[in-house]
Amino acid sequence: MPLPKRRKVRTFALLFCVLTFSYTFWDPSLYFIKYALHQSNYFFSKGPCACRRCVAELEDGEPWFSERFNQTVHPLMTRENSALSDETFKWWQWLQSERQPANYTAVVEELFQIIPDEVLYMDASPDRCRTCAVVGNSGNLKGSRYGSLIDSNDFIFRMNQALTDGFEEDVGTRTTHHVLYPESAKNLDNGTSLVLIPFKTLDLQWVISALTTGTIKQTYMPVVSRIKANKDKVMIYNPAFFKYVHEAWLDGHGRYPSTGFLSLLLAVHICDEVSVFGFGADQYGNWHHYWEENHLAGAFRHTGIHNGDYEYNVTLLLADKQKIRMFKGR
Ligand code: C5P
Repeated sequence: MPLPKRRKVRTFALLFCVLTFSYTFWDPSLYFIKYALHQSNYFFSKGPCACRRCVAELEDGEPWFSERFNQTVHPLMTRENSALSDETFKWWQWLQSERQPANYTAVVEELFQIIPDEVLYMDASPDRCRTCAVVGNSGNLKGSRYGSLIDSNDFIFRMNQALTDGFEEDVGTRTTHHVLYPESAKNLDNGTSLVLIPFKTLDLQWVISALTTGTIKQTYMPVVSRIKANKDKVMIYNPAFFKYVHEAWLDGHGRYPSTGFLSLLLAVHICDEVSVFGFGADQYGNWHHYWEENHLAGAFRHTGIHNGDYEYNVTLLLADKQKIRMFKGR
């Protein structure tokens, strides 16, 4: 006998509620899915970051990296970490000795009245996956077609005279951080952070001047007196970190590390995944820049200041230990 219409509706509504309730809370398959999601989330996020591999992950039986990697030295300068020990200060002053250096503490104070005094990027967490591309200036980028791969990273570090116009297909278009020093400086876009590597107190005075009055025109050579850069995005490479890179990662080889190596170690400390482009010679052994027509220029290799071979070998070792990914170009 067919049920009356109202009873039919009530029965249907009751059935709907029971099903919804049991599906949400009791259905074993759903519970399994929830459990699996929870477990996989736990599994993937139990490392120091949310990427597939994390630079900062210290593995047992892999002492080479963990003996060198020191997270207590902050890569970027703040007012608070700007004071240098006597030993570090002496080492730093020796890099490009100045005849009459200004008072370091006073210059730092003046600097932080112009640029932000912030602790940046020290926000590693199991939920963060910060991917970074460190783009050196090697001629091996020419014809590499790495452009879109480079641009797909969260942070893209370029350095010194690096340019993208006309080379987009090989080097990409985006630059989040441009690492430079007074003698290698160039104008930057408003959205790019200027990372100054200071080699002397005068370099700190130069960045103040270049962003304001433009009075400093000369260091040990003529320098640009003004620079187009966003003041709110200027950051300073910490001299204590500079010394740590030279000692811990290069065992003191070379007079001091190159811009490329300093940028690489900055990335290793503030990123979760690091990809390296434009380092080393091209396939014919040339050490020129990717924008140079003269392949025999060899600008980087023969400065006499950096130990290019030693740096390159350490970079290869980092890749071998799967701490960075190395793209060797052409
Ligand atoms: O020549 P420059 O110092 O401007 O290049 C930036 C960085 O790119 C270097 O410090 C070096 O690490 C890297 N480079 C390289 N091989 C080249 C040119 C540059 O490894 N042929």
